[in-house]
Amino acid sequence: MNRAVYPGSFDPFTNGHLDITERGARLFDELIVAVLVNSEKNAMFSVDERKMMAREAAVHLPNVKVMSFDGLLVNFMRREKSRVILRGLRALSDFEYEFQLAQMNRQLAPETETFFMVTDAKYSYLSSRSVKEVFSFGGAIQEFVPPGVFRRMRERVPPRDLS
Ligand code: PNS
Repeated sequence: MNRAVYPGSFDPFTNGHLDITERGARLFDELIVAVLVNSEKNAMFSVDERKMMAREAAVHLPNVKVMSFDGLLVNFMRREKSRVILRGLRALSDFEYEFQLAQMNRQLAPETETFFMVTDAKYSYLSSRSVKEVFSFGGAIQEFVPPGVFRRMRERVPPRDLS
């Protein structure tokens, strides 16, 4: 059983994340979307909400499981008996951070391998941060996030001119 872990903050889960999840689900027997429990004060959604939204978005993918993890990713990997970390790469600007993360994870757990998947060009500009920013100024975000995320964001703060 080839089990991979796709870790992230997913605050919130975007269509870019869904694309990586769908493609990852085709490559591995099982894919765990692992939501980081972080103490970031400016997180928009709680971990439970983030998990729920990811679960809803990936409901059509029977080999995808959504979980959360606290602390080091490599410890979670060991607990879940997975050796593959899946990450999406949007642009060169992502590379430095991703390279550092992959090297550190390998240092901490030499058995782990990080697989990078190049983001589909149509999502190359998309990030949770930019979705939140557009939303906070009342911009339309419907095309950037799965329907369940859109619904929950609308419930959150009714923006001025969301169409
Ligand atoms: O979506 P993000 O915020 O870019 O995801 C980053 C994430 C969750 C993959 C990374 O921050 C992480 O794995 N955090 C857990 C702590 C850890 O294991 N850090 C790695 C050594 S620096």
